Amino acid sequence: KLPRKVKLVEVGPRDGLQNEKQFVSTAVKVELINRLSAAGFPNVEAASFVSPKWVPQMADGSDVMQAIHRRRGTIYSALTPNMKGLEAALAARVDEVVIFGAASEAFSRKNINCSIAESMERFRPVARAAKDAGLRVRGALSCAFGCPYQGDVPVASVVSVAQMFDELGCDEIDIADTIGVGTAAQVGTVFDAVTRVIDGSRLSGHFHDTYGQALANILAALETGITIFHASVAGLGGCPYAKGATGNVATEDVLYLLDGLGIETGVDLAAVVAAGDFISTALDRPNGSRAGKALLAK
Ligand code: HMG
Ligand code: MG
Repeated sequence: KLPRKVKLVEVGPRDGLQNEKQFVSTAVKVELINRLSAAGFPNVEAASFVSPKWVPQMADGSDVMQAIHRRRGTIYSALTPNMKGLEAALAARVDEVVIFGAASEAFSRKNINCSIAESMERFRPVARAAKDAGLRVRGALSCAFGCPYQGDVPVASVVSVAQMFDELGCDEIDIADTIGVGTAAQVGTVFDAVTRVIDGSRLSGHFHDTYGQALANILAALETGITIFHASVAGLGGCPYAKGATGNVATEDVLYLLDGLGIETGVDLAAVVAAGDFISTALDRPNGSRAGKALLAK
């Protein structure tokens, strides 16, 4: 019943680092991405071309993209909220751009300073220009399981925003638990509803782990037929506009789960554990991956 293969998208260099208060040097970002590429990820979210006033940590995206070693077989993605971001992403030769909206009006305003409807009008030319340039386009859908400002988010809003992304031509749509509040039952409900209108092969699960539910939620999503998941090495991260939310589920923990289920990812767990140790040391903070810590202690 479970899939034989899963596409694991490593978002640590973007979602993981964007919330760091201290500026992380370009060299450290580049080494992290190079290590993750070498571990075999099919997709690494490497940069964000957003306003440096809003997210100063991501201001060096062009330099990062310029300096990384690009592994054949890895897609390098970057966030592009508007045409200015897209132009920077094109100049930096990213492979895939991510337009990012929300199922919650309140979060949309806090994160990208406009309503959901306005965001879609802003994304339309971005998606079209990206497609014209031959890039893949992903749509990230925040607050699919709850919002830090409005609380509950109706499943119908998630379905409706997913359809808007579909209509803009997104290749993939990321169903995101921005604040990590979702439970396995909710995951079943949300993915069942969205897969009624969009093929499950184009949907991903992007789970933050605030309430410790992310691994259970991944298993629940696998059972609904989802085969793309996002994770952050060493469990780094949090969204600057979702106060109190922790990082994405740790990649090492997800790999340990998938390896145990015999699900193929093409990613080398030992190399990810080493990358997690590298970045935790560089940031001078405890490693947020349970599996990573256990394997490092062996
Ligand atoms: P705004 O202030 O409404 O935009 O922000 P603006 O067009 O009025 O521009 C304001 C200033 O920003 C101008 O500079 C622009 O040039 C500049 P000034 O004239 O004042 O010197 N600017 C830019 N600079 C560089 N690159 C750009 C860019 N755009 C404008 N692309 C805007 C609107 C969308 C720009 C802003 O709200 C923003 O940058 N937001 C990004 C917030 C963000 O990055 N959040 C985290 C990522 S989303 C996330 O983490 C969730 C996710 O992981 C899924 C999940 O877990 O839910 C994906
Ligand atoms: Mg996120």
